[in-house]
Amino acid sequence: MPFDPNLLAHTRHLLVFTGAGVSAESGIATFRDKLDGLWARCDPTQLASAEGFRADPALVWGWYQMRRAGIARARPNPAHLAIAALARRVPRLTLVTQNVDDLHERAGSTDVLHLHGRLEDFRCFTCSRPATTAVALAADAREGRRSDPPCCASCGGPLRPGVVWFGETLPEQVLDQAFAAAQQCDLLLSVGTSGVVQPAASIPRLALAAGATLLHVNPQPVMTGHPREFALTGNAGKVLPELLEAAFG
Ligand code: OAD
Repeated sequence: MPFDPNLLAHTRHLLVFTGAGVSAESGIATFRDKLDGLWARCDPTQLASAEGFRADPALVWGWYQMRRAGIARARPNPAHLAIAALARRVPRLTLVTQNVDDLHERAGSTDVLHLHGRLEDFRCFTCSRPATTAVALAADAREGRRSDPPCCASCGGPLRPGVVWFGETLPEQVLDQAFAAAQQCDLLLSVGTSGVVQPAASIPRLALAAGATLLHVNPQPVMTGHPREFALTGNAGKVLPELLEAAFG
């Protein structure tokens, strides 16, 4: 059965749950797409773990500088804009993202729950104090360019990006808010995620189990096994504006 846009039109609490696919049309690489996914080209244990950072801080810092530079050049796409517009159409919207970029905010979304942290937050690798020092972006930041991390103003340790690395726990308060929204929402819109990284991946299922309708948006076909689970197949930048138009005219 196809998804009825009226369900969106009458939603009281919409939870939008996004992954790397929502930023794909802004030119930001996803993680698991076979040819151009970040993890097809890079080793996650080397670049996204405390062990990797300890072993070679300049390599890891340089890689994040390269990603930051790419995001600074990118612009929000029609999917980010449609999600920001949805917040003005439904009584309540909670936006939960696994992305570390700021494209939702730059599209106009507010109070975004970043489950995996944010690239522009920093803290000390040694003493964990948050760093408020602005980190300058090297003009020539590019793949493979090593760059020494700046030093913590308190203890002199190396700064690290405020993102969640493999083996680390998610920010507790953010996760609690996301789980609470999953239990309260009546529709969960899951956009551009492969849904394999826990605990984030459990959020759509939790919403479904709590009685919400679940709608996936992905160019890859998604298996839907529940009577309240639907999928729209296509790029988010096309599907979301069309969905908005169908629901609200
Ligand atoms: P993935 O790279 O695993 O999945 C991206 C999804 O986006 C895939 O299902 C694609 O089919 C889909 N996609 C690609 N282009 C799209 C488009 N134009 N519109 C809509 N969907 C599109 O990324 P995530 O699911 O976000 O974690 O990955 C989850 C986590 O794994 C990330 O947050 C990151 C990574 O390791 C951490 O860094 C902690």
